[in-house]
Amino acid sequence: MRYLITGGSGQLGSAIYKELLLRGENDVFTPSSKEMDITNFSSVKNYITLVKPDIIFHCAAYTNVDEAEFDHDSCYMANSLGTGHICNAAGLVDATVIGISSDYVFDGKKESPYEVYDERHPINFYGSTKKEMEDILTRYPKYFVVRTSWVFGENGKNFVNTMLNLAKRHDEVDVVRDQIGSPSYTPDLARGIVDLSNTDYYGFYHMTNEGYLSWYKFANLIYKEAGIDIKVNPINAKDYNGAKALRPENSMLSKFSLDQAGITRLPSVEEATHNYIKILKK
Ligand SMILES: NC(=O)c1ccc[n+]([C@@H]2O[C@H](COP(=O)([O-])OP(=O)(O)OC[C@H]3O[C@@H](n4cnc5c(N)ncnc54)[C@H](OP(=O)(O)O)[C@@H]3O)[C@@H](O)[C@H]2O)c1
Repeated sequence: MRYLITGGSGQLGSAIYKELLLRGENDVFTPSSKEMDITNFSSVKNYITLVKPDIIFHCAAYTNVDEAEFDHDSCYMANSLGTGHICNAAGLVDATVIGISSDYVFDGKKESPYEVYDERHPINFYGSTKKEMEDILTRYPKYFVVRTSWVFGENGKNFVNTMLNLAKRHDEVDVVRDQIGSPSYTPDLARGIVDLSNTDYYGFYHMTNEGYLSWYKFANLIYKEAGIDIKVNPINAKDYNGAKALRPENSMLSKFSLDQAGITRLPSVEEATHNYIKILKK
Protein backbone atom coordinates (compact mmCIF):
# COMPACT_ATOMS: atom_id res chain seq x y z
CA MET A 1 0.00 0.00 0.00
CA ARG A 2 1.09 3.57 -0.67
CA TYR A 3 0.30 6.28 1.88
CA LEU A 4 0.31 10.06 1.75
CA ILE A 5 0.18 12.18 4.91
CA THR A 6 -0.66 15.87 4.61
CA GLY A 7 0.57 17.94 7.55
CA GLY A 8 3.31 15.39 8.19
CA SER A 9 5.35 17.94 10.16
CA GLY A 10 2.49 18.57 12.61
CA GLN A 11 1.48 16.81 15.82
CA LEU A 12 -0.85 14.18 14.37
CA GLY A 13 0.72 13.77 10.93
CA SER A 14 4.13 12.98 12.43
CA ALA A 15 2.56 10.39 14.78
CA ILE A 16 0.76 8.69 11.89
CA TYR A 17 4.06 8.57 10.00
CA LYS A 18 5.71 6.84 12.99
CA GLU A 19 2.80 4.41 13.34
CA LEU A 20 2.98 3.39 9.68
CA LEU A 21 6.74 2.81 9.92
CA LEU A 22 6.19 0.73 13.09
CA ARG A 23 3.78 -1.44 11.10
CA GLY A 24 6.48 -2.02 8.48
CA GLU A 25 5.04 0.28 5.82
CA ASN A 26 7.74 1.84 3.62
CA ASP A 27 5.82 3.72 0.93
CA VAL A 28 4.84 6.66 3.08
CA PHE A 29 4.99 10.17 1.57
CA THR A 30 4.96 13.25 3.81
CA PRO A 31 5.31 16.33 1.61
CA SER A 32 6.03 19.63 3.33
CA SER A 33 3.64 22.53 2.70
CA LYS A 34 6.19 23.81 0.18
CA GLU A 35 6.25 20.52 -1.74
CA MET A 36 2.46 20.25 -1.68
CA ASP A 37 0.49 23.35 -0.73
CA ILE A 38 -3.07 22.20 -0.10
CA THR A 39 -4.44 25.65 -0.95
CA ASN A 40 -3.13 25.28 -4.52
CA PHE A 41 -4.91 22.70 -6.68
CA SER A 42 -2.09 22.32 -9.26
CA SER A 43 0.36 21.62 -6.46
CA VAL A 44 -1.96 19.01 -4.90
CA LYS A 45 -2.86 17.40 -8.23
CA ASN A 46 0.76 17.18 -9.39
CA TYR A 47 1.93 15.58 -6.15
CA ILE A 48 -0.96 13.12 -5.78
CA THR A 49 -0.94 11.96 -9.39
CA LEU A 50 2.84 11.48 -9.12
CA VAL A 51 2.92 9.36 -5.95
CA LYS A 52 -0.49 7.66 -6.52
CA PRO A 53 -1.35 6.90 -2.87
CA ASP A 54 -3.95 4.31 -1.92
CA ILE A 55 -4.71 6.11 1.35
CA ILE A 56 -4.43 9.81 2.21
CA PHE A 57 -4.27 10.84 5.86
CA HIS A 58 -5.32 14.45 5.56
CA CYS A 59 -3.90 16.12 8.70
CA ALA A 60 -2.86 19.48 7.20
CA ALA A 61 -4.95 22.36 8.42
CA TYR A 62 -5.03 25.91 9.66
CA THR A 63 -5.14 25.11 13.37
CA ASN A 64 -4.82 28.47 15.15
CA VAL A 65 -8.39 28.72 16.42
CA ASP A 66 -8.00 32.25 17.85
CA GLU A 67 -6.15 33.74 14.87
CA ALA A 68 -8.81 32.26 12.59
CA GLU A 69 -11.31 34.78 13.96
CA PHE A 70 -9.26 37.53 12.27
CA ASP A 71 -7.84 35.63 9.30
CA HIS A 72 -10.88 34.04 7.69
CA ASP A 73 -9.34 33.74 4.25
CA SER A 74 -6.30 31.69 5.32
CA CYS A 75 -8.37 29.41 7.54
CA TYR A 76 -11.01 28.83 4.86
CA MET A 77 -8.41 28.24 2.15
CA ALA A 78 -6.57 25.55 4.12
CA ASN A 79 -9.45 23.81 5.87
CA SER A 80 -12.32 23.97 3.39
CA LEU A 81 -10.86 24.72 -0.04
CA GLY A 82 -7.75 22.63 0.72
CA THR A 83 -9.88 19.59 1.55
CA GLY A 84 -11.73 20.06 -1.74
CA HIS A 85 -8.40 20.02 -3.57
CA ILE A 86 -7.36 16.84 -1.76
CA CYS A 87 -10.63 15.06 -2.63
CA ASN A 88 -10.59 16.20 -6.27
CA ALA A 89 -7.03 14.98 -6.74
CA ALA A 90 -7.67 11.78 -4.73
CA GLY A 91 -10.46 10.97 -7.18
CA LEU A 92 -7.95 10.91 -10.04
CA VAL A 93 -6.07 8.00 -8.40
CA ASP A 94 -9.01 6.41 -6.51
CA ALA A 95 -7.43 6.99 -3.08
CA THR A 96 -9.25 6.75 0.25
CA VAL A 97 -9.26 10.08 2.13
CA ILE A 98 -9.28 10.29 5.92
CA GLY A 99 -10.00 13.85 7.05
CA ILE A 100 -9.45 15.01 10.62
CA SER A 101 -12.21 17.15 12.06
CA SER A 102 -12.98 18.62 15.43
CA ASP A 103 -15.32 18.87 18.41
CA TYR A 104 -15.57 22.55 17.40
CA VAL A 105 -18.23 21.69 14.79
CA PHE A 106 -20.61 21.52 17.79
CA ASP A 107 -21.88 24.44 19.89
CA GLY A 108 -21.44 22.59 23.19
CA LYS A 109 -25.01 23.11 24.36
CA LYS A 110 -25.87 19.39 24.54
CA GLU A 111 -25.73 17.96 28.06
CA SER A 112 -24.41 14.51 27.15
CA PRO A 113 -21.64 13.32 24.81
CA TYR A 114 -22.10 14.19 21.14
CA GLU A 115 -22.93 11.39 18.72
CA VAL A 116 -21.55 11.48 15.17
CA TYR A 117 -25.03 12.24 13.84
CA ASP A 118 -25.82 15.19 16.14
CA GLU A 119 -26.55 18.49 14.47
CA ARG A 120 -23.56 20.75 14.01
CA HIS A 121 -23.60 24.43 15.01
CA PRO A 122 -20.03 25.79 15.13
CA ILE A 123 -19.52 28.84 17.33
CA ASN A 124 -16.14 29.93 15.98
CA PHE A 125 -14.77 30.46 12.48
CA TYR A 126 -12.35 27.53 12.62
CA GLY A 127 -15.30 25.26 13.50
CA SER A 128 -17.30 26.53 10.54
CA THR A 129 -14.43 25.68 8.16
CA LYS A 130 -14.23 22.20 9.72
CA LYS A 131 -17.98 21.77 9.15
CA GLU A 132 -17.51 22.66 5.51
CA MET A 133 -14.55 20.30 5.33
CA GLU A 134 -16.79 17.49 6.58
CA ASP A 135 -19.43 18.31 3.95
CA ILE A 136 -16.80 18.22 1.21
CA LEU A 137 -15.56 14.83 2.41
CA THR A 138 -19.07 13.35 2.43
CA ARG A 139 -19.35 14.13 -1.28
CA TYR A 140 -16.29 11.92 -1.93
CA PRO A 141 -17.08 8.18 -2.14
CA LYS A 142 -14.18 6.73 -0.11
CA TYR A 143 -14.07 9.05 2.88
CA PHE A 144 -13.62 8.90 6.61
CA VAL A 145 -14.20 11.87 8.92
CA VAL A 146 -12.46 11.44 12.29
CA ARG A 147 -13.46 14.07 14.83
CA THR A 148 -11.01 14.49 17.66
CA SER A 149 -10.34 17.07 20.39
CA TRP A 150 -7.67 18.65 22.59
CA VAL A 151 -4.78 17.03 20.70
CA PHE A 152 -1.38 16.73 22.38
CA GLY A 153 1.88 15.05 21.43
CA GLU A 154 5.28 15.79 19.99
CA ASN A 155 5.89 18.34 17.20
CA GLY A 156 3.48 21.09 18.00
CA LYS A 157 1.80 23.51 20.34
CA ASN A 158 -0.54 21.93 22.85
CA PHE A 159 -2.06 22.41 26.30
CA VAL A 160 0.32 20.04 28.09
CA ASN A 161 3.39 21.93 26.86
CA THR A 162 1.74 25.25 27.70
CA MET A 163 1.00 24.14 31.29
CA LEU A 164 4.54 22.82 31.78
CA ASN A 165 6.04 26.05 30.39
CA LEU A 166 3.80 28.23 32.60
CA ALA A 167 5.00 26.31 35.65
CA LYS A 168 8.58 27.40 34.90
CA ARG A 169 7.64 31.07 35.34
CA HIS A 170 4.68 31.12 37.74
CA ASP A 171 3.71 29.82 41.19
CA GLU A 172 0.04 29.63 40.26
CA VAL A 173 -2.04 29.40 37.10
CA ASP A 174 -5.69 30.10 36.24
CA VAL A 175 -7.34 27.36 34.22
CA VAL A 176 -10.85 27.12 32.76
CA ARG A 177 -13.20 24.85 34.69
CA ASP A 178 -16.43 25.14 32.69
CA GLN A 179 -15.38 23.48 29.42
CA ILE A 180 -15.45 19.68 29.45
CA GLY A 181 -13.95 17.34 26.88
CA SER A 182 -11.30 14.72 26.23
CA PRO A 183 -7.62 15.14 25.47
CA SER A 184 -6.22 13.03 22.62
CA TYR A 185 -2.62 11.78 22.61
CA THR A 186 -1.23 11.58 19.08
CA PRO A 187 0.37 8.07 19.19
CA ASP A 188 -2.96 6.68 20.48
CA LEU A 189 -4.94 8.60 17.84
CA ALA A 190 -2.51 7.46 15.14
CA ARG A 191 -3.05 3.81 16.10
CA GLY A 192 -6.83 4.20 15.96
CA ILE A 193 -6.80 6.14 12.70
CA VAL A 194 -4.51 3.64 10.97
CA ASP A 195 -6.71 0.75 12.25
CA LEU A 196 -9.74 2.51 10.78
CA SER A 197 -7.98 3.09 7.46
CA ASN A 198 -7.58 -0.68 7.11
CA THR A 199 -11.38 -1.05 6.92
CA ASP A 200 -13.88 0.08 4.33
CA TYR A 201 -16.37 1.26 6.95
CA TYR A 202 -16.49 4.75 5.47
CA GLY A 203 -18.21 7.49 7.43
CA PHE A 204 -17.98 9.54 10.62
CA TYR A 205 -16.08 8.64 13.81
CA HIS A 206 -15.19 10.22 17.12
CA MET A 207 -11.77 9.39 18.51
CA THR A 208 -10.17 10.67 21.73
CA ASN A 209 -8.61 9.16 24.82
CA GLU A 210 -11.12 7.69 27.28
CA GLY A 211 -12.57 9.89 30.00
CA TYR A 212 -14.12 13.37 30.16
CA LEU A 213 -12.69 16.20 32.21
CA SER A 214 -12.36 19.99 32.35
CA TRP A 215 -9.22 21.90 31.35
CA TYR A 216 -8.81 22.61 35.07
CA LYS A 217 -8.80 18.91 35.96
CA PHE A 218 -6.52 18.16 33.02
CA ALA A 219 -4.04 20.79 34.27
CA ASN A 220 -4.05 19.14 37.71
CA LEU A 221 -3.42 15.74 36.13
CA ILE A 222 -0.50 17.12 34.08
CA TYR A 223 1.16 18.66 37.14
CA LYS A 224 0.62 15.51 39.20
CA GLU A 225 2.21 13.35 36.49
CA ALA A 226 5.09 15.81 36.07
CA GLY A 227 5.65 16.01 39.85
CA ILE A 228 5.16 19.79 39.83
CA ASP A 229 3.78 21.52 42.90
CA ILE A 230 1.81 24.54 41.68
CA LYS A 231 -1.47 26.19 42.64
CA VAL A 232 -4.14 25.75 39.96
CA ASN A 233 -7.05 28.20 40.23
CA PRO A 234 -10.33 27.19 38.55
CA ILE A 235 -11.85 30.04 36.51
CA ASN A 236 -14.78 30.38 34.13
CA ALA A 237 -14.16 30.74 30.40
CA LYS A 238 -15.75 34.21 30.39
CA ASP A 239 -13.01 35.38 32.79
CA TYR A 240 -10.15 34.07 30.65
CA ASN A 241 -8.72 36.82 28.44
CA GLY A 242 -6.37 34.63 26.39
CA ALA A 243 -8.99 33.28 23.97
CA LYS A 244 -10.33 35.31 21.06
CA ALA A 245 -12.61 32.55 19.74
CA LEU A 246 -15.57 31.08 21.60
CA ARG A 247 -15.22 27.42 22.56
CA PRO A 248 -17.95 24.88 23.33
CA GLU A 249 -18.70 24.17 27.00
CA ASN A 250 -19.36 20.54 26.18
CA SER A 251 -16.80 18.92 23.89
CA MET A 252 -17.58 15.35 24.97
CA LEU A 253 -17.53 12.99 21.98
CA SER A 254 -19.29 9.63 22.21
CA LYS A 255 -17.33 6.62 20.89
CA PHE A 256 -20.42 4.64 19.82
CA SER A 257 -19.38 4.78 16.15
CA LEU A 258 -15.93 3.42 16.97
CA ASP A 259 -17.46 0.48 18.83
CA GLN A 260 -19.75 -0.27 15.88
CA ALA A 261 -16.74 -0.47 13.53
CA GLY A 262 -14.91 -2.77 15.95
CA ILE A 263 -12.06 -0.32 16.51
CA THR A 264 -10.47 -0.61 19.96
CA ARG A 265 -11.03 2.51 22.01
CA LEU A 266 -8.01 4.61 22.95
CA PRO A 267 -6.41 4.30 26.43
CA SER A 268 -7.52 6.50 29.30
CA VAL A 269 -6.57 10.17 29.53
CA GLU A 270 -4.54 9.32 32.66
CA GLU A 271 -2.48 6.69 30.83
CA ALA A 272 -1.98 8.94 27.81
CA THR A 273 -0.83 11.89 29.94
CA HIS A 274 1.52 9.61 31.89
CA ASN A 275 3.05 8.28 28.64
CA TYR A 276 3.56 11.73 27.12
CA ILE A 277 5.15 13.21 30.23
CA LYS A 278 7.43 10.19 30.51
CA ILE A 279 8.70 10.95 26.99
CA LEU A 280 9.17 14.65 27.81
CA LYS A 281 11.21 13.75 30.90
CA LYS A 282 13.70 11.68 28.85
N1 LIG B 1 -4.71 20.43 17.73
C1 LIG B 1 -5.92 20.13 18.20
O1 LIG B 1 -6.22 20.28 19.40
C2 LIG B 1 -6.96 19.56 17.27
C3 LIG B 1 -8.26 19.27 17.77
C4 LIG B 1 -9.22 18.74 16.90
C5 LIG B 1 -8.90 18.53 15.57
N2 LIG B 1 -7.66 18.84 15.11
C6 LIG B 1 -7.34 18.60 13.69
O2 LIG B 1 -6.36 17.58 13.61
C7 LIG B 1 -5.54 17.79 12.46
C8 LIG B 1 -4.08 17.75 12.87
O3 LIG B 1 -3.86 18.79 13.85
P1 LIG B 1 -2.41 19.05 14.47
O4 LIG B 1 -2.62 19.56 15.84
O5 LIG B 1 -1.54 17.86 14.21
O6 LIG B 1 -1.92 20.26 13.54
P2 LIG B 1 -0.56 21.07 13.58
O7 LIG B 1 0.41 20.44 14.52
O8 LIG B 1 -0.91 22.51 13.76
O9 LIG B 1 0.01 20.86 12.11
C9 LIG B 1 -0.65 21.42 11.02
C10 LIG B 1 0.03 20.89 9.77
O10 LIG B 1 -0.66 21.44 8.63
C11 LIG B 1 0.31 21.83 7.69
N3 LIG B 1 -0.22 22.84 6.81
C12 LIG B 1 -0.81 24.03 7.18
N4 LIG B 1 -1.14 24.72 6.06
C13 LIG B 1 -0.77 23.96 4.99
C14 LIG B 1 -0.84 24.12 3.59
N5 LIG B 1 -1.36 25.21 3.05
N6 LIG B 1 -0.38 23.13 2.79
C15 LIG B 1 0.15 22.00 3.32
N7 LIG B 1 0.27 21.78 4.66
C16 LIG B 1 -0.19 22.77 5.48
C17 LIG B 1 1.46 22.34 8.53
O11 LIG B 1 2.64 22.36 7.75
P3 LIG B 1 3.68 23.60 7.91
O12 LIG B 1 4.23 23.46 9.29
O13 LIG B 1 4.66 23.36 6.82
O14 LIG B 1 2.86 24.83 7.70
C18 LIG B 1 1.50 21.29 9.65
O15 LIG B 1 2.25 20.17 9.23
C19 LIG B 1 -6.01 19.09 11.85
O16 LIG B 1 -6.95 18.83 10.83
C20 LIG B 1 -6.72 19.79 12.99
O17 LIG B 1 -7.70 20.73 12.54
C21 LIG B 1 -6.68 19.33 15.93
